[in-house]
Amino acid sequence: MKLQYLSHSAFLVTTNDGMRILIDPFLDNNPKSPVKSSDIQADYILVSHAHGDHLGDTVKIARRCGALTICVYELANILKNEGIETHAMHIGGSHIFPFGKVKFTIAHHGSKTEDGIHAGQPAGILLTIEGKTIYHAGDTGLFLDMKLIGEMNAIYAALLPIGDNFTMGIDDAVKASEFLNPNITIPMHYNTFPVIAADPQEFVDKLQKNNRECKILEIGEIIEI
Ligand code: NI
Ligand code: MN
Repeated sequence: MKLQYLSHSAFLVTTNDGMRILIDPFLDNNPKSPVKSSDIQADYILVSHAHGDHLGDTVKIARRCGALTICVYELANILKNEGIETHAMHIGGSHIFPFGKVKFTIAHHGSKTEDGIHAGQPAGILLTIEGKTIYHAGDTGLFLDMKLIGEMNAIYAALLPIGDNFTMGIDDAVKASEFLNPNITIPMHYNTFPVIAADPQEFVDKLQKNNRECKILEIGEIIEI
C-alpha cells in the first residue's frame, strides 16, 4: 500500500486495489496543507476524534465522494445528522472492511466538536491492510498500554504526535515508540501552529540512539509500505 502524509495528523492510504482511506483530514483551515479538501478523493474516512484539526473536512469530503466515515459511536451519531454515511465502532473493537481491518484503541485526550458537543472518547487507530499494520495514535499523551498494543500487534508503522502541549512531546513519543516496537516510526502533529513547534530531527536522533528507525515525511510525500 501507499502511505501519503498530507500534513498535521492527516494521511491518505491507498491500497494495491486502489481503495483510498483518508485519516483525520484537516486540510482547508490547515495553514500547512497545500492540498484542499476539494482536491481529495476518498472511499473511506477514519476519524480519531472530533477536534477541528482531526475531524477537519470529513463532512465535506464524505458528502462529495460518498465516502464511508468510520469513527466512535458518539461521533458517528453526530455525523449521521450531517447526512453522511457512517460506521460506528468503539475502543477495543475491530471490524473487517473491504480494504482491511480497523481497530480502535484508547487515547488520552478530549473529543468535543467545534460547537462544543461531546463526541465520545478520542481514539487511536490500528489499520491492517495487506498484512501490514499502521498505528495512528490520534492525539494522546503517553500511556503504558502502548506496550500491550505493541505486544499484540506487529506494527509496521507507528504514526506518533510529537508537538507537545496537546499531546506527547518528543521524549514521550520516543518512549511510545519503544513500547510499540514498530519497524518505522513517523512523527506527526507538529509545526502546524507555533504552540506545537518541534524539531523532528531531534526525534530521529533520539530514536536512533535506541536503534529505532524513524522517517520524517515531507508534506505530500508518499512511501510504499
Ligand atoms: Ni485533539
Ligand atoms: Mn490535534
